[in-house]
Amino acid sequence: EMSPEESAFQQKVDEGIKIEPKDWMPEGYRKTLIRQISQHAHSEIVGQLPEGNWVTRAPTLKRKSILLAKIQDEAGHGLYLYSAAETLGVSRDQMVADLHSGKAKYSSIFNYPTLTWADMGAIGWLVDGSAIINQIPLCRCSYGPYARAMIRVCKEESFHARQGYDIMMSLCKGTPEQKQMAQDALNRWWWPSLMMFGPSDAESVNSAQSAAWRIKLFSNDELRQKMVDQTVPQIEYLGLTVPDPDLKWNEETGHYDYGKIDWEEFTNVIKGNGPCNRERLRTRVKAYEDGAWFRDALVAHAEKQERRKAE
Ligand code: 3HC
Repeated sequence: EMSPEESAFQQKVDEGIKIEPKDWMPEGYRKTLIRQISQHAHSEIVGQLPEGNWVTRAPTLKRKSILLAKIQDEAGHGLYLYSAAETLGVSRDQMVADLHSGKAKYSSIFNYPTLTWADMGAIGWLVDGSAIINQIPLCRCSYGPYARAMIRVCKEESFHARQGYDIMMSLCKGTPEQKQMAQDALNRWWWPSLMMFGPSDAESVNSAQSAAWRIKLFSNDELRQKMVDQTVPQIEYLGLTVPDPDLKWNEETGHYDYGKIDWEEFTNVIKGNGPCNRERLRTRVKAYEDGAWFRDALVAHAEKQERRKAE
């Protein structure tokens, strides 16, 4: 049975009225948003690491500057999202501590290694491509600060996806070895990119409530299907092969049927046993500790300025 505040709240959500930080909201709504937005922010920050591995080895200055711009964008996306989460009453230090202790999650996709330059193409094209499909509905989610942060993020993500596809096109038009490198990257990033959308709807514990609160506007499987349908023609255009022997166009549904996802791999990666989980967290903890002096100096400087103003 809903309390009067809860039914008034649910009515606003159902009418598409944005919920703002100072509005009354159920504790569960606040907690779900803190969980999702902080983990989204962690994904952006940890997501810089796989690409950082290739900045010094980019094949041209143009590719290097594009990659640097993309990584810088991801840092900004992380800051927007941490700020959106802070409007719900959680501190930045708490969120960062939860990431470093392994308590908070970040997107599974960032626990895979980037072995060749073609991975920079596959990540931009497939990982940012999946992220866009997931993030466009979030621009219309019920929580104001999250929806507004997503609008800016989505604009920058489309540049990320396009530059990734451009790298893949260059490789596929290049030597046979370059085309093989692109196929190898596709083979390694295809299934993990589909896992980004989360467990199947049947296995998803949060979806029903998140849908009722209009945080999740489309289900995990709906968005995953959109990714498959959108990407298969692009793979064919590149002259590459989808690493899924069960992929088949279904005339009746108007969608591609595709093979089974290895949910054991997904669960393993989320539990912290993916190829790079430990390395990613170690890198983040080291960066945070190495930056402590800088944060302390900023605080000391701000306090000094405050004292000067008060004099
Ligand atoms: N990686 C890690 N954990 C995942 C996951 C993934 N790919 N997919 C699901 N999970 C976790 C969920 O967080 C949840 O665990 P929790 O309750 O401890 O948080 C559990 O698995 C069950 O999944 P549900 O589907 O029930 O959970 P949600 O309703 O939260 O849906 C989600 C999961 C679709 C990822 C949703 O949280 C979401 O849309 N988040 C915002 C988008 C996001 O985080 N994107 C990251 C993509 S990468 C990125 O943005 C960087 C880009 O610039 C490249």
